[in-house]
Amino acid sequence: MNASIRKVNLSKQDIESFVGVYKSAYKGMEEYAYKKEKSIRHYFKWLFKRDRDGFFVAELDGNAIGFVACDSNWHNLFNEKMGEIHELAIKQEYKGKGIGKKLMEAAEEYLKSKGHEKFGLWVGENNKKAIKFYEKLGYKKRDKFGIWIRMEKYETKSI
Ligand SMILES: CC(C)(COP(=O)(O)OP(=O)(O)OC[C@H]1O[C@@H](n2cnc3c(N)ncnc32)[C@H](O)[C@@H]1OP(=O)(O)O)[C@@H](O)C(=O)NCCC(=O)NCCS
Repeated sequence: MNASIRKVNLSKQDIESFVGVYKSAYKGMEEYAYKKEKSIRHYFKWLFKRDRDGFFVAELDGNAIGFVACDSNWHNLFNEKMGEIHELAIKQEYKGKGIGKKLMEAAEEYLKSKGHEKFGLWVGENNKKAIKFYEKLGYKKRDKFGIWIRMEKYETKSI
């Protein structure tokens, strides 16, 4: 699928289309998502504030079909510097077409450009599809906190 990836500037239009993508992506997985649109909008603003250069959208014919928000300024629970993936969402009808992988590649490339070799994320324990997806990309389960599973991936520097 020929989706293009661009950096997000989080215009009002971005926010509105991302709300649609987010709600569609989490259909059937609502336990791990914000429900109120006001909270979702607030969450997007928080993501953008965390790292203005780490938010990417996948578009098809100018329409948002997925996005990823990562963070090059994050520290994990052990105060280790980490490249954190905060959010990844693909619109229902575009899942399974390689868009999630493409967005993760963009996020990891960006985090690498900021000097990160360790990437991490939290995923809902019953979100089996996402867990399989992340495992396929090289992430491994490292920890558990309540309903959340910690997954991390360590890159080794090429010589
Ligand atoms: C999880 C999610 C991001 C995956 O995105 P996607 O665009 O559907 O995944 P892709 O098509 O890029 O898949 C990439 C690889 O993962 C594999 N994969 C994807 N879903 C899978 C599944 N359910 N089971 C096994 N493998 C799966 C694909 O087969 C593909 O492998 P390949 O490269 O060998 O072909 C997407 O389904 C989603 O938006 N889920 C709801 C929101 C969510 O859970 N976000 C994560 C929160 S932490």
